[in-house]
Amino acid sequence: MKKIITLGIETSCDETSIAVVEDGRKVLSNIILSQIKDHRVFGGVVPEVASRKHIENIGKILNIALEESNKQIQDIDYIGITNGPGLAGALLVGLSYGKALAYKNNIPFYGINHIEGHIYSNFIDTDIKPPFISLIVSGGHTHLVFVKDYGRYELIGKTRDDAAGEAFDKVARALGLDYPGGPEIDKLAKLGNYNNIDFPKALNQKDNFDFSFSGLKSSVLNYLNSKKMKNENIVIEDVAASFQRSVNEILVEKTINSALKYNQNMIVIAGGVGANSGLRKLFEERLRETNININFPPLKLCTDNAAMIASVTYYKSLREKSDKLDLNAIPNLKIQYE
Ligand code: KG4
Ligand code: ZN
Repeated sequence: MKKIITLGIETSCDETSIAVVEDGRKVLSNIILSQIKDHRVFGGVVPEVASRKHIENIGKILNIALEESNKQIQDIDYIGITNGPGLAGALLVGLSYGKALAYKNNIPFYGINHIEGHIYSNFIDTDIKPPFISLIVSGGHTHLVFVKDYGRYELIGKTRDDAAGEAFDKVARALGLDYPGGPEIDKLAKLGNYNNIDFPKALNQKDNFDFSFSGLKSSVLNYLNSKKMKNENIVIEDVAASFQRSVNEILVEKTINSALKYNQNMIVIAGGVGANSGLRKLFEERLRETNININFPPLKLCTDNAAMIASVTYYKSLREKSDKLDLNAIPNLKIQYE
């Protein structure tokens, strides 16, 4: 059977990425240019800078992605472009570029939901198939989703305030660490003892699948302030370890409880916080005595990348008609839930 080749374009935040994927799962190329160093001096992503950097680089990234995949633009069957959620200006760069590319070369294209993309990062180079429970934990989102089939989702729970990654980034900032804070806290936490400070776990009831991280974040900030006022020594390794443990306990408990409630024996993780080594260990520990399996995408696929967008594009092309040129960027685009 003829292989279907999709090209994904991702510019929703601070990574410019283009990928070429075969039949939704086999990566032929996945080029990711991170702008982290351009934003680090500001302590977070500056939307205007992100858009300008995408414009500067997207053409080069396309050429490299095609070259590395040994494909030419004429070989591409469908183009998929992240059109939300994300930063409006950043999304518009990828979307305008992708639409122009599709129009010029007469290739059908699809607007792709970035969060759906994160879920599909679990399909890359695996044979994992729905149904399963997916925990999506990124800088902007914390969602627990029951994936019934390709394109069929039920929302189980989501954060009521900060996203998990956002909490990592804000606590890291208070500790004087670099942006993005998640990997920095992850490194420090390995040197600390999580039993030394007792931070709260919000919405800890068994039948509640929503998350809340702003109380935990405030409690860390209060702890730091009160220590400073009293001129007491702060062991930042212990703060990092204890904070990280509180976040991870909540994520693991709620995800496993939802798998039990929905009678599912497969959990897949997605999004940048999925790279957290403590989260991986805790899940493996808690699942050891159960028949529930878990998949963590490789680190490169946890954070933003276009291979996951190309994967959604393939499965969408099997079910739906392509989009039209008036497709817009939607900064708060939601997944369609059943
Ligand atoms: O999925 P992603 O690349 O972008 C969004 O769509 O938001 O996630 C970025 C987030 C940041 O908040 C970053 O601090 C966090 O993922 N992150 C981590 C780790 N690596 C990245 N958080 C905890 N531990 C990590 N190792
Ligand atoms: Zn993301």
